[in-house]
Amino acid sequence: MEPIVIQNTLAEECLALLRDRSTRPAQFRSAGRRIGLVLAVEAGKLLDTLEVQVDTPLESTRCRTADAPVVLVPVLRAGLGLTDAFLELFPEAEVGHVGLERNEATAQADSYYCKLPQLAGKQVFLLDPMLATGGSLAQAVDLLKARGASLVVAACIIAAPEGIAHVRSRHPDLQLVLGAIDRELDSHHYIRPGLGDYGDRLMGTH
Ligand code: PRP
Ligand code: URA
Repeated sequence: MEPIVIQNTLAEECLALLRDRSTRPAQFRSAGRRIGLVLAVEAGKLLDTLEVQVDTPLESTRCRTADAPVVLVPVLRAGLGLTDAFLELFPEAEVGHVGLERNEATAQADSYYCKLPQLAGKQVFLLDPMLATGGSLAQAVDLLKARGASLVVAACIIAAPEGIAHVRSRHPDLQLVLGAIDRELDSHHYIRPGLGDYGDRLMGTH
């Protein structure tokens, strides 16, 4: 499936703040949460829906609602920065967690934590701000599919072309909602121009 890249001035402003090396963690968190709201609106458009009958105070009418429960799965750590925004728009969602950490030398992602609810028949929003080589996201989708998720939409703030190609080859059915597609990966597997290490900037750990 073709990635969806959001077009929104609020998102552009947030991206400018996130990319700026002088942005402190408090502002960084706030900008990440606000662009997360835009991503959540866009991701919500991809949910399967069903028609329901609703009684207004005046008459009965037909409305639409999500067809299956929504589950949020942030990839630790950086995905935590998107979780509150998605919970704001999907307050009934269950939340699972997948812990993946890239080996800085090889860029291979090691799994160190996985706590997921039952996913069969549910619609999953996988949250990870950075899609670089795509190794982490592809591995996370493997875990979700193994648990029977029926729809997986991944929301990322910045993606590299190489990572998009990798996850699309591993998971052609994955729907990607992106804030921006950047130029390339550098020799250290960082996204250029990018914003540096999202997890470190979010948590203030660099
Ligand atoms: C970052 C990011 C993604 C991953 C992307 O996490 O949050 O999960 O790198 O890289 P990839 O597409 O090449 O796999 P990192 O491993 O740095 O962990 P952190 O969130 O704990 O900082
Ligand atoms: N993870 C990040 O946080 N940033 C990158 O540029 C690549 C992977």
